[in-house]
Amino acid sequence: MVVVLLGPPGVGKGTQAVRLVDELTAVHVSTGDLLRAARREGTELGTLAQGFMDRGELVPDDLILDLVKEHLAGIDASTDVMFDGFPRTTDQATGLDAVLEASGRKVNSVVLFEAPDEVLVKRLSGRRSCPECGAVYNAYFSPPVVEDVCDRSGGTLLHRADDEPDTVKRRLQVYLDQTAPLIAFYQDHSAAMTRIGADRDVEAIYADFQVAVTGSTGDVS
Ligand code: AP5
Repeated sequence: MVVVLLGPPGVGKGTQAVRLVDELTAVHVSTGDLLRAARREGTELGTLAQGFMDRGELVPDDLILDLVKEHLAGIDASTDVMFDGFPRTTDQATGLDAVLEASGRKVNSVVLFEAPDEVLVKRLSGRRSCPECGAVYNAYFSPPVVEDVCDRSGGTLLHRADDEPDTVKRRLQVYLDQTAPLIAFYQDHSAAMTRIGADRDVEAIYADFQVAVTGSTGDVS
């Protein structure tokens, strides 16, 4: 099964994906996470991507497709994959189709998360991440026990540079201009698309997300 998560920055794609892949033993492929790892490791890709990310713009399609191909090459073709933040342009979506076709696969399901801009801006302004274990918190909605300290690792939590208000504004516009056209792209393709209202609490969204991907809530009672 290949699932694509679509939706604007801050809508909660990562929050939901991390939880469901754990339950399904699927692989979570977040191009944002892969790019941030490349930057931390100081690779050539990380250096090339840095300016685009800091400005809130998309990293060029050829770099992203090479990154995804390389990453998928290390994953068995029978493994379920959940893409988060990829594809982000129609060229990336076409490139993904070609990569999957080579191993007899296709995108089976697309989940579109939606929330108003003011909700996204507030979530991103409150997001704090642990550089040591990757845990994500929110100063307004899900704070750590001790301010700016990770409950799990004790690491100091960071606010992403691209979560500053001006860059968030740019990212929202880039989403509308370059990524939102994928909604029509996937509607024209054979993948099933489910829209989920994401201006709700994490649990309510998760229940709908489980049904969208697995067909059931996973509740055995
Ligand atoms: P990326 O890291 O992919 O960022 P994004 O898509 O903008 O998504 P976010 O990570 O900001 O949001 P999310 O939806 O995952 O929300 P989260 O769960 O964290 O990309 C960053 C940059 O990398 C791009 O700008 C671009 O430059 C580059 N890039 C990446 N992929 C690319 C590609 N394919 N092509 C080209 N360039 C690419 O939640 C946000 C906050 O809200 C958290 O604090 C969370 O705790 C909180 N929260 C979540 N759900 C709820 C809820 N229901 N209620 C209250 N709070 C909530």
